[in-house]
Amino acid sequence: MLAETVREALGQEECTFFGTPDAAGEGVEEAEIIFAGFWTDKGNCSGDMAEFLKGLGGRKIFLFGTAGFGENQAYFDRILTNVRSHLDSSNTVVGTWMCQGKMPGAVRRRYEQMEDQQKAAQMIANFDAALAHPSREDLAGLRDAVKILL
Ligand SMILES: Cc1cc2nc3c(=O)[nH]c(=O)nc-3n(C[C@H](O)[C@H](O)[C@H](O)COP(=O)(O)O)c2cc1C
Repeated sequence: MLAETVREALGQEECTFFGTPDAAGEGVEEAEIIFAGFWTDKGNCSGDMAEFLKGLGGRKIFLFGTAGFGENQAYFDRILTNVRSHLDSSNTVVGTWMCQGKMPGAVRRRYEQMEDQQKAAQMIANFDAALAHPSREDLAGLRDAVKILL
């Protein structure tokens, strides 16, 4: 959803590649800015995105992603610090943006089995709140963050 929103904000004619890191080819070489999106896996981006970021040099990069826990920007900032650490210093991060993202149903079922009832209730409340994200407002925020770059 976020990647589609970025593409829409830029206009399709400005897009030299759209897809997963394993399929990235010439279109990525040509791009003026790389918009690299990820989902959060244990406080970091997924492994395939980490590998992709490690391969970049001298590029302008905009990082965007979703996380299951969306309570505050400080948490997003910690994740973004971890994600940035895959980039070497020849790259420039021109922008970052994150919001909460819905999680698979299996996660809720795991919470329901937790022994600590208080903790379980908190996790389930967060899970249920995440179901509404990325929301229309989230996507509008991303659109604005992308348009500022143009
Ligand atoms: C194995 C696994 C680990 C996860 N770790 C985190 C995490 O550390 N922090 C967090 O906020 N969300 C975590 N999540 C939730 C995902 O970030 C969330 O499901 C994702 O952003 C939704 O994006 P997707 O629809 O592209 O999968 C995790 C989800 C899975 C399945």
